[in-house]
Amino acid sequence: MSHSDQFFMRDPWVYDPQTPKAAPRDTHLGFDTRALHTGFDPAETVAPFRSFVPPIVQSMTFPYENFAEIPCPVYGRTRTPTNTVLEERLAALEGGEACVTAGSGSQALFNLIFTIARPGDNVVTSLNIFGEGYKQAATIFPERCNIDFRFVEAPADPAAWGELMDERTKVVWIETPSNPTLFVTDIAAVAEVAHAKGVPLMVDNTTATAALQQPMALGADIVLLSLTKFLAGNATVIGGAIVGPEPLVEDIRWNTTEFLGSVVPPQDAFLMLQYLETLGMRMLRHSSNSQSVAAYLAAHPKVGRVNYTGLEDHPQHALASRQMCAHGGLISFVAPGGMAGAAKLINGFRLICHAVTFGTSRSICMHPATITHEHMTPEERAAVGIDDGLIRLSVGLEDPADIMADLEQALQAI
Ligand SMILES: Cc1ncc(COP(=O)(O)O)c(C=O)c1O
Repeated sequence: MSHSDQFFMRDPWVYDPQTPKAAPRDTHLGFDTRALHTGFDPAETVAPFRSFVPPIVQSMTFPYENFAEIPCPVYGRTRTPTNTVLEERLAALEGGEACVTAGSGSQALFNLIFTIARPGDNVVTSLNIFGEGYKQAATIFPERCNIDFRFVEAPADPAAWGELMDERTKVVWIETPSNPTLFVTDIAAVAEVAHAKGVPLMVDNTTATAALQQPMALGADIVLLSLTKFLAGNATVIGGAIVGPEPLVEDIRWNTTEFLGSVVPPQDAFLMLQYLETLGMRMLRHSSNSQSVAAYLAAHPKVGRVNYTGLEDHPQHALASRQMCAHGGLISFVAPGGMAGAAKLINGFRLICHAVTFGTSRSICMHPATITHEHMTPEERAAVGIDDGLIRLSVGLEDPADIMADLEQALQAI
């Protein structure tokens, strides 16, 4: 039996001086032309790229098949094939119609507001929002575009949201659970109030992710995402997205993306697609680790308030348990001794890294009052519970005992 009769086997190559040499390819072309064209015809070579994973299509323009027919994608400033797979996947995970990505979560917010509101319009939100979002709301949009942001003072009361809306309100924006204080807003109730006034509701789903919370199923019309956090899960990609109705998403592309080139680039889109494959599992592990760490912190005599929606004494524990299938990976807690105490504690961590972001596979912490929410006035910070001693802790996927041991050794030292 020759080798070639066996499955997956072939006869080895045997040198035969009599065999004529095969003609080299494309000899009718010069060297430089071969360097540019051989092996790939942009109009025809598609099928050979069969791939188990979505390929990285690192091309910023896409050939016309004929003069009059505009291809889609046509140019990489607006979308690329790998990015399109990511956008479709994010829309599917959020239960939305369409999605457009952006260079960051902050830019996704900017692109949405810039598209949806005109001078004289307003947006209703609360102070329970991420730091760069606050900066856009408090200064950038009001000063540059005359778009007013109205901050609800009692965000736990759905009616209070309605009181700030008028005929020029273009969107209601809630972040739940919020970064960094884990304030929970009732999505279904605020959606009802907004819809009664003819206003769409946008939910920032960055901290929970679609794995734990489905804002659209609860009545939200638009979802804002930072891909940078739990969705990527390891601080290797920066990106953002808006999920919503197709006409809105196309409006955003038309008014912003197309001019800014703000889509997630092909390599990052490829990475995001890999990371999303494990999102559900990761979020459950972040949640169970956080539950243990939050309980440990809450019982610690040196620790002040602990914000974690999974703790039964969180003021909105019941609401959070209704809206989310688990409580996620973000905790914040108050260190003893104000800012100096927080600094000492953070400097004492060995396993927990001090850096700006959250949602990483490794535990990471940050001081909101000086790093992300420093633009808020002290009164505004006090209103949302960002004490000088508050530390944001993003609980990673390590063995929970090791995270608690690191907290314990640092707490003992202060
Ligand atoms: C809740 C939330 N949404 C959006 C963003 C913005 O995301 P990015 O850092 O990707 O701009 C952040 C950033 O911290 C955030 O915490």
